[in-house]
Amino acid sequence: MALLQLVAFFTLAACCMARSPPGKPFPDFLLQTPLSCNDSEVLAVAGFALQNINKDQKEGYMLSLSRVHDVHRHYQEEMGSVFYLTLDVLETGCHVLSRKAQKDCRPRILHESVYGQCKAMFHINKPRRVLYLLAYNCTVRPVSRRKIHSICPDCPSPADLSNPSVLEAATESLGKFNREHPSKQYSLVKVTKATSQWVVGPAYFVEYLVKESPCSQSQASCSLQPSDSEPVGLCQGSLVQAERSKKFITVTCEFFESQAQVPGGENSAVTQESKKLPEADEASQKNTAPTSSPSIMAPRGSVQHLPELNEPEGSEEKSPEEAFPVQLDLTTNPQGDTLDVSFLYLGPEEKKLVVLPFPGKERRSAECPGPATETSPMLLPP
Ligand SMILES: *[C@@H]1O[C@H](CO)[C@@H](O)[C@H](O)[C@H]1NC(C)=O
Ligand SMILES: *[C@@H]1O[C@H](CO)[C@@H](O)[C@H](O)[C@H]1NC(C)=O
Repeated sequence: MALLQLVAFFTLAACCMARSPPGKPFPDFLLQTPLSCNDSEVLAVAGFALQNINKDQKEGYMLSLSRVHDVHRHYQEEMGSVFYLTLDVLETGCHVLSRKAQKDCRPRILHESVYGQCKAMFHINKPRRVLYLLAYNCTVRPVSRRKIHSICPDCPSPADLSNPSVLEAATESLGKFNREHPSKQYSLVKVTKATSQWVVGPAYFVEYLVKESPCSQSQASCSLQPSDSEPVGLCQGSLVQAERSKKFITVTCEFFESQAQVPGGENSAVTQESKKLPEADEASQKNTAPTSSPSIMAPRGSVQHLPELNEPEGSEEKSPEEAFPVQLDLTTNPQGDTLDVSFLYLGPEEKKLVVLPFPGKERRSAECPGPATETSPMLLPP
């Protein structure tokens, strides 16, 4: 009987080894399992990952999910799983400093769209209530102006942020805001978005960050050094020049929720391992306990902004790797490496996760990419 089993084992091994072509990157037992990109758990994990990517940013706009492009899960028994996610994303109108809820942030309208792809490695251990973004990288580009022009010749087009007219539009509109709200004065931090269009004359539309100004309006020549205070809000303004030097100025400002930090509050949160799922992750990210391994956890990723893709008409489309290059590899060892994640878990024992090279698109799941949310095909990475 035992012999039979042994024979069966060898037959099985022979079959499976024979099936693997030489040079196949992973032994079968290490394979990440492809999942459906429309699976409800996958969509939930993608949402957590993107929420954490947004939280990790210091500048720019929050990203929203347009679809899951590809997903693999590497199940590791009592350590839970590592998800390897490729996400197609769209920039929203919410600045990352606004810390708005994802559901309140809509993607930009078509001609202002910025779109791209993120790769993320996300650790989830449901019984231990751990949700942790291990690493990510994203690449985004503005929508092709040529493609927009072909369907909307009169749409505003992106303006160079260093254009003096852009700065003028920002200062004029902020001046209007300050005149209308004299109790507190704001000053310009930086312009974050600008478009221009011909209306009755040149028109500039701008978005910019503002901070509280130490000078009140009554102090005509204020000599106080500008404080290096944080941006407190995002304003949208426009300046339309008409004939006979007539100007039309608009402005609206939205102020960020204040993020009052309770001293010691962050660390005390870490000591409760069993927090609700989304917060558990936040707490663990901020963990500064001496057991953490900052070498791996320090910069977990970044969002790279590239210029628009402008293939001349009729030329071949760029390959997906050229169009949206996103590199994410915590290891290049085909057998994988271990990552110490003890700091995510309470208790003295060491907790290690196996991380593998990011799966390539040749192993894409049959049910991927998933359905896109109300998105024009021109905003989907290839
Ligand atoms: C995705 O899943 C939802 C609900 O689970 C279903 O209604 C929808 O038809 C699915 N879409 C695709 C393209 O499979
Ligand atoms: C993220 O991308 C940058 C280049 O944009 C690369 O240098 C870095 O190694 C990438 N991170 C990982 C973990 O692969």
